[in-house]
Amino acid sequence: MTLKDTPTLARIAPSILASDFANLQSEVEMLNESEADWVHIDIMDGVFVPNISFGIPVCEAIAKHARKPLDVHLMIVQPEKYLEAFKNAGAAVISVHYEACPHLHRTLQQIRDLGCQAGVALNPHTPVSVLEEVLELADLVCMMSVNPGFGGQKFIPRTFDKVRQLRRMIETQGTQTLIEIDGGVSLDNASELMKAGADVLVAGNTVFKAQNPKQMIGDLKKSSK
Ligand code: DX5
Ligand code: ZN
Repeated sequence: MTLKDTPTLARIAPSILASDFANLQSEVEMLNESEADWVHIDIMDGVFVPNISFGIPVCEAIAKHARKPLDVHLMIVQPEKYLEAFKNAGAAVISVHYEACPHLHRTLQQIRDLGCQAGVALNPHTPVSVLEEVLELADLVCMMSVNPGFGGQKFIPRTFDKVRQLRRMIETQGTQTLIEIDGGVSLDNASELMKAGADVLVAGNTVFKAQNPKQMIGDLKKSSK
């Protein structure tokens, strides 16, 4: 088998938003024992998105129990104000929205300067081409495959094409940027997403509403490219 034939398995980032908040510690312990790679944490402010989730104290509480890196997705306006607070709350990866950052170049640099991995999230209506000038500063692109704000929505199929476009841009520029898919990921689209060039699959409802969440994480992980 040549190196090229070695399949790259999906990294799985279960989204805590779909977990049982009244039993957060046991949900995080389940993730610790699973094949999950990251813990995806959705922060919503009721302004950038039409919903409010939870904030810094909950992130700290998760960090206390998690043995996997925390992947914090900020769906908030003026995210630059809170980068340090989320770093101190345990974030390993921090993603900010392109649509919420007039000075995205600076904001991504600030995330890296804090010692975190810098991510940029794109709404479904935002073309991949807007990332051309900042790709080298992005360790991760969180590509929204639903409109941000709620879990359990239907996957938008145009995402496949956007993943292929972004993969081409990453190859052309020679960056190490990871492509993360966020929203409506399930066993029905995981393999196709990986084949299109994705690296990380976020899954909320698919994992936490499954009969056996730990097994579902393992099943999603088998998707490869
Ligand atoms: C949506 C969030 C997603 C969400 C995914 O605004 O950013 O991370 O939790 O949930 P599912 O996998 O249920 O679509
Ligand atoms: Zn998210």
